[in-house]
Amino acid sequence: MISKDYLSPWAKNVSPSPTLAVDAKAKALKAAGEDVCGFGAGEPDFDTPEFIKEACAQALTEGRTKYAPAAGIPDLRLALAEQYKDYGVLGEANPAQVVVSPGGKYSCYLAILATCGPGDEVIIPAPYWVSYPEMVKLAGAIPKVIFAGDDQDFKVTAAQIEEALTPATKLIILNSPSNPTGSLYGREETEEIIELACRKDLLIMSDEIYEYLLYDGSIHHRPASFSSEAADRVITVSGFSKTFSMTGWRLGTLVANPSISKAVASLQSQTTSNATTFSQYGALAALQNWSKAMGAVNEMLVHFDRRRMKLLDGLNAIAGCSCLRSQGAFYLFPSIAELGISSEDFSNQLLEKEKVAVVSGHAFGADGYVRLSYATSDEVIEEGLLRIEKFCDELK
Ligand SMILES: Cc1ncc(COP(=O)(O)O)c(C=O)c1O
Repeated sequence: MISKDYLSPWAKNVSPSPTLAVDAKAKALKAAGEDVCGFGAGEPDFDTPEFIKEACAQALTEGRTKYAPAAGIPDLRLALAEQYKDYGVLGEANPAQVVVSPGGKYSCYLAILATCGPGDEVIIPAPYWVSYPEMVKLAGAIPKVIFAGDDQDFKVTAAQIEEALTPATKLIILNSPSNPTGSLYGREETEEIIELACRKDLLIMSDEIYEYLLYDGSIHHRPASFSSEAADRVITVSGFSKTFSMTGWRLGTLVANPSISKAVASLQSQTTSNATTFSQYGALAALQNWSKAMGAVNEMLVHFDRRRMKLLDGLNAIAGCSCLRSQGAFYLFPSIAELGISSEDFSNQLLEKEKVAVVSGHAFGADGYVRLSYATSDEVIEEGLLRIEKFCDELK
């Protein structure tokens, strides 16, 4: 038997992803024959658009099954560079500033690893995506969490960030539209944060993985597009998972100034190498047939929007629950604080008693809330609401 304390400080400090754990628990219950209403999943419930799958299948048929350049196949990097030039994020369509990685999650991790080290502080607005604090710790850096509740639409202000700054602050993480709240930063709010970053010589990691999943005519503002200085300071992360229902393909993107993108490419070349070669050909087809791709996204959005409103109205009709109308992504983040139960207990007991899977707000740094994903069928939403209402009534 091994007697030594053999796990590294990184392994000892890291927690497993709670969102993946809830989803796995719900799937296991379902597999055991339980009738589970799952609101835990962070992935669209649609299939990947057919033409994207066909492009990938063709790449396989053509034998594109070998290593590719670590930072991505040249055509995909170029297509992304052209798109980001059109968006005003890049001055020129320079593929060297683009890195394609095995998932947006890895893009985030490498953005942090490339810029932060021991002693550096990273500002993380809560409610946050569960992985940010863990990634910061894995880089040896220190997460500095600041909080914005539903009274401020879950969005931190530049003044709040400024108050949390110390001489050790290196990076601010932004995620708009947000997981878990669906909140979206407006133009002025974004501008104020960029102004602060420039004044205090800070970097921003802008995680825009939900950039195309928007409602009520809302507009997504890319922080890197505000000025050439912003373009230098902002690392833009996105990916294909959420937009095109390609979660299993593992394709993320990162756009940054040349020295950061070079460092990210080097880190990737020594850790994962390239994202799956034939997957990248599917993504390339999406970029090369953009209006077709957006047509498929708009079809998904019709369903997401209908479900969003159904779930929102249903939650707000339950005594003790109150929920803001989100502007993006596919999550709602109701407050359950009035019910006088912790969000951990709420989500555990709801799964046990009513077989409804939601994720505790605690996982996102926001006790008193729970996250529900509406990337699920109308039937599940209707049945789930009935069960949640019954559960809440019994709590009183
Ligand atoms: C805010 C946010 N960023 C990044 C990711 C990573 O997505 P993926 O690694 O599937 O591309 C997710 C996935 O849940 C997310 O919610």
